[in-house]
Amino acid sequence: MKTAEIRSTFLDYFRSKDHTIVPSSSLVPASDPTLLFTNSGMVQFKNVFLGSEKLPYTRAADVQRCLRAGGKHNDLDSVGYTARHHTFFEMLGNWSFGDYFKRDAIAYAWELLTEVFKLPKDKLWVTVYHTDDEAYALWNKDMGVPAERIVRIGDNKGAPFASDNFWQMADTGPCGPCTEIFYDHGADIAGGPPGSPDEDGDRYIEIWNLVFMQFDRAPDGTLSPLPAPCVDTGMGLERLAAVLQHVHSNYEIDLFQHLIKVASKLTGTADLANKSLRVIADHIRACSFLIVDGVLPSNEGRGYVLRRIIRRALRHGWMLGVRGDFFWKMVQPLVEEMGEAYPELVAKQSFVEEALRTEEKRFGETLENGMRLFDTVAAKAGNTIPGADAFRLYDTYGFPVDLTADIARERGMSVDMDGFELAMKEQQERSREGGRFEAKGQMPAELASQLAPTAFLGYEALAGQGKVIGIVRAGKQLDQLSDGEEGLVILDRTPFYAESGGQVGDTGALVSGAGRFNVGDTLKMGGVFFGHAGRWQGAQPLRVGDAVDATVDQARRQAIVLNHSATHLLHAALRKVLGEHVTQKGSLVAPERLRFDFSHFKPLSADELREIEALVNAEVRRNAPAEVHQMAYDAAIEFGAMALFGEKYGDEVRVLKMGEFSTELCGGTHVGRTGDIGLFKIVSEAGVASGVRRIEAVSGAGALDHVAEEERRLGELSQLLSAHGDDSVDKLRQLFDKQKKLERELESLRAKAAGSATADLASTAQDIHGIKVIAARIEGLDAKALRDSVDNLKQQLADCVILLAGAMDGRVSLVAGVHGKALGRVKAGDVVAHVAGQIDGKGGGRPDMAQGGGNDSSDLPRILNGLTGWIGERLAS
Ligand code: ALA
Repeated sequence: MKTAEIRSTFLDYFRSKDHTIVPSSSLVPASDPTLLFTNSGMVQFKNVFLGSEKLPYTRAADVQRCLRAGGKHNDLDSVGYTARHHTFFEMLGNWSFGDYFKRDAIAYAWELLTEVFKLPKDKLWVTVYHTDDEAYALWNKDMGVPAERIVRIGDNKGAPFASDNFWQMADTGPCGPCTEIFYDHGADIAGGPPGSPDEDGDRYIEIWNLVFMQFDRAPDGTLSPLPAPCVDTGMGLERLAAVLQHVHSNYEIDLFQHLIKVASKLTGTADLANKSLRVIADHIRACSFLIVDGVLPSNEGRGYVLRRIIRRALRHGWMLGVRGDFFWKMVQPLVEEMGEAYPELVAKQSFVEEALRTEEKRFGETLENGMRLFDTVAAKAGNTIPGADAFRLYDTYGFPVDLTADIARERGMSVDMDGFELAMKEQQERSREGGRFEAKGQMPAELASQLAPTAFLGYEALAGQGKVIGIVRAGKQLDQLSDGEEGLVILDRTPFYAESGGQVGDTGALVSGAGRFNVGDTLKMGGVFFGHAGRWQGAQPLRVGDAVDATVDQARRQAIVLNHSATHLLHAALRKVLGEHVTQKGSLVAPERLRFDFSHFKPLSADELREIEALVNAEVRRNAPAEVHQMAYDAAIEFGAMALFGEKYGDEVRVLKMGEFSTELCGGTHVGRTGDIGLFKIVSEAGVASGVRRIEAVSGAGALDHVAEEERRLGELSQLLSAHGDDSVDKLRQLFDKQKKLERELESLRAKAAGSATADLASTAQDIHGIKVIAARIEGLDAKALRDSVDNLKQQLADCVILLAGAMDGRVSLVAGVHGKALGRVKAGDVVAHVAGQIDGKGGGRPDMAQGGGNDSSDLPRILNGLTGWIGERLAS
């Protein structure tokens, strides 16, 4: 059975069991800061398990693209060493949200594997968490799995609930005991059954994990029960394909064989079983999909994981003898293999290629030298590469430390990781994306479970009545707010837009009785509740259950609306002018301005910017209606709507269509017609990261203000230039020409002055022990003119010591020169230092030429007089 067929058979089976089929979410988890990457199918459902988000269905199934590199689940180091580990893989999963539990989860899995996929029962083994008698009995009695093929696994990872059979997504969050299904690939493969000492071999392979989600793990490790027990399952598509295609390694399945063959051609490697080919075939999938999902190589967070994977692949290419670029050429065969299941990969093919090629070029420049350094270090190192050397490889040659460790491992060596970390820390504290942020408006799960989602009235109205259904402060539920107290007030219905999709939250006021709650911001809490952030002022407290009149700051909202619609037009215009590879990387829609980050590799030219601005303004003048359609996600994509990666969409989505120009999924608030925008002006364009550009722009009254301000500046310029409108450019040009001429004149006058000063000075030189000595002050010469003078004098006087002090605007520049036979007896640097020390200055330089400076003073003539004697003493000795 081909991989593609396995995908569809799985989904068909669960569709027939009343499961809703949902699309794969992005590898970059939508608004989940606790997680670097989507590492399993359940990630998009995390808040549903926790009870803070609700879905219209209680059973779901999907095929989810996953990445296990960096973060809690990290398989990067195993890739290439085993038959079954990948960075990127696809996970088949089914879920119950408070619907069925252990009995049905086990029965479905067994039926699908043995009846639909027809796996022989006697090849299947299962494990259960050591105390889970219920799961044990279901396998043994109901499914008829004999006791000798059921293994109980305890806490085998050194802590309570740390077990192969206790699954958790990350250090915190939903978790629970699990039961795993293994396939026995047969006695001719090395390895023992689960729980045995040699379980890590390739004979018994885990294919499916059924997790019974029951707890939420707090940062301190304590477990509290979830609102309802749930089921989360995950089956590796590649492993199942290996079983169904009767091969013993994932890398032998149809999908990988194609990639490996291309890699063998590109690297000139005949042996298809070569480990490096497998690494390359694995890594091209991870890298391409990360780029598709909006990650680009960088030195931090997700971008750094991508960089590490790319560089690891490049190093394997290097080992196979490749000395040019090759990796980006793997994108085409990947598209052939996976493009049908993932149209987004097809759409972004050339962008992915370009991003990889850029990174390949960059690392190509240092890889060779880095490898040479590694060899030198390794030759001296014994068994361990010192941390400082690993750091040098990292810092100078761009070798991520796990790459160095990988190379070391191949030679039976290791890296002093502590030493590396220390060197790294010493250099800088890098902020790591993965665990940095904590959610702003944390919703207590208990409260979430009692409430219906907030209804949003704000698409149509800017004022309305609502009821306080919850009050929260610092993640804790409150009953009331007294006078002067701050908190987040949740309403049952509200016209306030809560910050999301880049659009900032509304401000305004909630009025109840004689009191007033000034809303400074509005945030989404738990995905579906609107929290109004602010302070209560009123003699009586604001209580849960109180009715409020909610009024949004209208002018501010209107400015936001214009900027938001303008952002959509800008996005569409960018794609028209620059190409389809342009996708949104971030946006901020505020009342004063809009900011739009997008993927593109070069700075935009002035012509491109003009064209983009003109396109947007043409759409504004067309004054097309902005239509909103509610539809199913799939229908919306078919309708041509642009969906953003890393954004999370429900089943029902809102599509905003402005004329024929722009169609995007968007929950934000928008204009009625494009003409409302009035005017659109780009204010700036700049790069923010490799491959990401940023445009800032203004619209509506903001754009008029911007134009007015520019006009005012131009007016001021004209006035300064005594010009009229169009003349000012000519006038300015004339002024510049004139200035250049004057500068040239000044220069030649200075040179003349220096020449004649020098001539005069030469005649004043004193002869001390056969050396000509001059120490003089000259008015009006800068350091450069002084240097020229000193050079002249050296030529004229041959054996000499000279110090010239040029006084200008209260400062003194000092230049000393020593020449001929005086060299070795007096140092120019000492001469300057000696004088500078007396006029509160400093200086130094070479033995034959030095310079410095200090403050002008009436003492200078005396100091210079004394200098001749000081030089005389040194010449005498
Ligand atoms: N979330 C479970 C896993 O990834 C199913 O194994």
